[in-house]
Amino acid sequence: MPESPRSSSPDTRPLALVTGASAGIGLCFAERLAEQGHDLILVARRRDRLEDLARRLGADCGADVEVQPADLTDPAELRKIEDRIIAEPRLSLLVNNAGFGTVGRFQDVEPDRIESEIRLNVLALARLARAAVGPMVERGAGAIINVSSGAGFQPGPWFANYSATKAFVTSLSEAMAGELEGTGVRVQALCPGPVSTEFAEVAGTDEGSLPDMLVQTPEQVVDASLTALEKDQVVCATSTFVGVSAALTSLLPRGISRRLGLALARRTFDRD
Ligand SMILES: NC(=O)c1ccc[n+]([C@@H]2O[C@H](COP(=O)([O-])OP(=O)(O)OC[C@H]3O[C@@H](n4cnc5c(N)ncnc54)[C@H](OP(=O)(O)O)[C@@H]3O)[C@@H](O)[C@H]2O)c1
Repeated sequence: MPESPRSSSPDTRPLALVTGASAGIGLCFAERLAEQGHDLILVARRRDRLEDLARRLGADCGADVEVQPADLTDPAELRKIEDRIIAEPRLSLLVNNAGFGTVGRFQDVEPDRIESEIRLNVLALARLARAAVGPMVERGAGAIINVSSGAGFQPGPWFANYSATKAFVTSLSEAMAGELEGTGVRVQALCPGPVSTEFAEVAGTDEGSLPDMLVQTPEQVVDASLTALEKDQVVCATSTFVGVSAALTSLLPRGISRRLGLALARRTFDRD
């Protein structure tokens, strides 16, 4: 953890900003970080969910929780969250988690949806990381967790745009981590496989088509991420399945790896 004294006084408590905190992995990050003594800024579009969570974490953990409803695909609303980060010298952790995917043949996906996915998964993530990193370097402390995906390790037929956005996230995170060596600021690319959240429903797929043993809970993913952060691991593959697939992809010739990825995607997604 960046700074995690449970007993610290309110103005020295570490502060984390979590995007996509109204559901799934982001909600679980908010819970874990509050339990560990963080104050929080929570971002997502569903204000009611964020306000309920803020009340609960305040009552259960004594956390000071600020709610910042925003659609991060909207340039003005994204700018508002960037400005909030820039105005906050106390930010010790940014969890860049908000994101969504779309299952379908690329040619059939609505162009506006492709754009929104890139705006949220790529543009918003990069701009928020850029806003947070400067003050962290000046302080010589801080961390950024960029939620990527196992899908970013190889091209993903029927998940093409999503996989490409997550390849960006992993690449950006690894490059930033290199630039930041010795500054006291850490960057992690968090790469889960399938997780039981609202993601599958939003993506338009059926999580039930996957073997249960491959599907993790948000708690497993968040615990793996926070443990990896303590160990300064830059890429956190949260399951053996993701770790082995990533290793195979990097070892096999690109053509063979692409054929294997295509065969797996056909089994999982090809519903035509
Ligand atoms: N679940 C998986 O299988 C899986 C696997 C690998 C990686 N991931 C990644 O994990 C991250 C979290 O996903 P999840 O599984 O927790 O999915 P989820 O349950 O659908 O949660 C997504 C979160 O992102 C927020 N969000 C969506 N669109 C937004 C927008 N335009 N502006 C602001 N916030 C927005 C949602 O809140 P609102 O709807 O209230 O805005 C929600 O809080 C994503 O980056 C995803 O790509 C998920």
